[in-house]
Amino acid sequence: MDAAGHQVPDPYATTGVPQLGLRNYWYPVLAGWRLRRKPRAIKILGEEIVLYRDAGKIYALSDRCPHRGARLSQGKCLYPGSGTVSCPYHGWTFAGETGQCIAKIMEGPDAALPRRSHVKAYPVREHLGAIWVFVGDMEAVPLSDDLPECLADTNTWHGFSTWRTYRCNWRILKDNLCHDLHAPFLHRNAPELLLQPIFPYAAQISATPLKGGKGIGYSARDGISSAEYPGLGAFPPPQESWYRVLKPVGRGQEVGAAAPAVAKYGYQFRQSSLLPGITLIGRPSGNYFTCRWVTPIDADTTLYYSFSMFRRRGRLQTLRDRLAWIFWLSWMHDWLFSEQDKRILEKVVPGRELLSRSDIGVVAWRRFAVAHARRPPDVTSEPAANDEPALHSTAAE
Ligand code: FES
Ligand SMILES: [Fe+2]
Repeated sequence: MDAAGHQVPDPYATTGVPQLGLRNYWYPVLAGWRLRRKPRAIKILGEEIVLYRDAGKIYALSDRCPHRGARLSQGKCLYPGSGTVSCPYHGWTFAGETGQCIAKIMEGPDAALPRRSHVKAYPVREHLGAIWVFVGDMEAVPLSDDLPECLADTNTWHGFSTWRTYRCNWRILKDNLCHDLHAPFLHRNAPELLLQPIFPYAAQISATPLKGGKGIGYSARDGISSAEYPGLGAFPPPQESWYRVLKPVGRGQEVGAAAPAVAKYGYQFRQSSLLPGITLIGRPSGNYFTCRWVTPIDADTTLYYSFSMFRRRGRLQTLRDRLAWIFWLSWMHDWLFSEQDKRILEKVVPGRELLSRSDIGVVAWRRFAVAHARRPPDVTSEPAANDEPALHSTAAE
């Protein structure tokens, strides 16, 4: 929908990147502390899911009772410790592990419980303070298969996470994170960059498949920090350049390619895009990564999960890292930078694009995602079970 509520054609129709996200992956969906025993409704990749916690374990079921369609998220854990949730309408009660209906409370203990009376159960985990759900059409892979090393290995890394909801399709947000040279322009007056010379722009961007086939890495060569434009004058213009008093840092380096310290830890690039919608950006030291995970909610809404990860280097350094995040990085990266992007992305007018040289990284990501996204192995179809209930009950409503 556009701002006026009109249906607009899918601007990505020709790219093949699916509107509701790449299925068959794990996604972070909710901070763990936000889920207690009371069931909670979430939506991810367009699927409505109820999450609940019982006896310390988290369950995720499809949020629609197969009986007459009530929301299980309006129900409750009527039998604490059983791992079940009961529908608020007539009390059908579902096992969290399997989604099977194990009691139709209002029909008595002898009620038939055909196989059909189940809801989909989603694989769910809690890790790094977040709840992760696998959405797809195949058996879940281990969560660690989908995590970059800095999120998977908590013995080596510690960190924080934040989240925001964007009112735009996930592809618009993911494209924004593809090293498209918007940063030197859009973020040039963010407090962190305000006093620095403009980041090199007009650089030659390239994208390279990563070893392991899970994504692409970006690098950018050359670039300029100022130039004269015929008929306009200089960029940055004089009113924006006088306060850029800091010395250039790291200029002349290849931006994005892994510095030796990063490469030492096995990272090929400082910035990369990973399936299913992850952007990993590291510091030259290799001791800090920000991992931005784009979780599609529906066609017009996206959850932006941001993990700031620090390499464990002793207690004192851990304390310093924590303070740096609390007093600077959280505000700078997770709030101000993303607010600048959010303001633009939520107003993007979907339609035909006129891609240009600086969009090489965006195009490479779209192509990679379509070609390499995980697909379920071929499934042989089972004969449909004939488990219709015998509809001869005379019970009154
Ligand atoms: S709608 Fe759920 S028990 Fe009837
Ligand atoms: Fe940005």
